[in-house]
Amino acid sequence: MKKTRVSQILGIEYPILQGGMLWLADAGLAAAVSNAGGLGVISPMAGMEAHGEPVNNLKDQIEKAKGLTKKPFGVNIPLDLRDSGLLMDLILTQKVQVVVTAAGDPRLYTELLQSQETKVLHVLSSVRHAKAAESAGVDAIIVEGVEAAARNGFDELPLFSLIPQVVDAVGIPVIAAGGIVDSRGVVAAMALGAEGVQLGTRFVVVKESIASQKYKDAIIAAKDTDTVITCRQLIPSRSLKTTEFTQALLALEEGGATADELRDFIGHAASRTGGLEGDLENGEAYCGSSAGLIHEILGAGEVVRRLVNGCREVIDSLA
Ligand SMILES: Cc1cc2nc3c(=O)[nH]c(=O)nc-3n(C[C@H](O)[C@H](O)[C@H](O)COP(=O)(O)O)c2cc1C
Repeated sequence: MKKTRVSQILGIEYPILQGGMLWLADAGLAAAVSNAGGLGVISPMAGMEAHGEPVNNLKDQIEKAKGLTKKPFGVNIPLDLRDSGLLMDLILTQKVQVVVTAAGDPRLYTELLQSQETKVLHVLSSVRHAKAAESAGVDAIIVEGVEAAARNGFDELPLFSLIPQVVDAVGIPVIAAGGIVDSRGVVAAMALGAEGVQLGTRFVVVKESIASQKYKDAIIAAKDTDTVITCRQLIPSRSLKTTEFTQALLALEEGGATADELRDFIGHAASRTGGLEGDLENGEAYCGSSAGLIHEILGAGEVVRRLVNGCREVIDSLA
């Protein structure tokens, strides 16, 4: 796999990122990905109690990750989290190599973080937001297609259309996310002009992942048509539609529930209840639309190795 600007900027061997995952992306997972040559990313609430303290939790996770890997790793901060300012204060004292911001204005912390030698990546889903992130000075952007698990862009643009349009519109490196599970996805994204890839759902279903077994099994059982976007007008999110929770949410939406009613139903930690506790009746099971390609639980390092080693075969098959 060739070195790209993404691997150079992040100081990693392969331009493969494990996406931030709110309650799930902990130090153990991030370190396993980083040790395999990719970039592991920690989420502030990983493994935390539903009403825990994210700043302390993130501090513990960063310290733990530093003990588990000497390679670079990142931290994901959704900027709409209530504690995002306090989390940034912590990050500035912790010398984190990479921060991945999402769900907010990339101008907020980019300069400050970069003044501490931290590289800043921003997650987005349209050409307009890509241009804005470039103007904000971020080092690279993560462009998420509608295939992606969890929060989606309102315009629902598929990765295949989005990546080349963004690549043509900006000069900074582009990392593709959404529906990538194997080397075919990696080669396709790079052929479209991406210089790196980010995977979420594939890294839920690995040995090091703290996701519940029930959630992992549900992803493995999923086929192509088993995910759906809920709450399109509010917070569009892609989840497994095979769960009781999502069926009930869809029924509420079809019945014309108001935004407040939907918010009340989802509650504060539905993806924790589904993802960590495995309670798929009362909790959400975020899942990307390529779940049908995931058939087994592998080690996170093995996922990275297969992504890298499989590229040659895919490229040769095109020649
Ligand atoms: C359980 C779960 C939680 C996620 N939470 C976040 C998050 O907190 N912040 C974020 O930027 N992206 C989040 N994502 C999106 C991933 O970082 C990644 O971009 C996405 O999963 C890529 O699509 P894929 O799942 O098809 O590989 C989450 C994904 C999953 C599966």
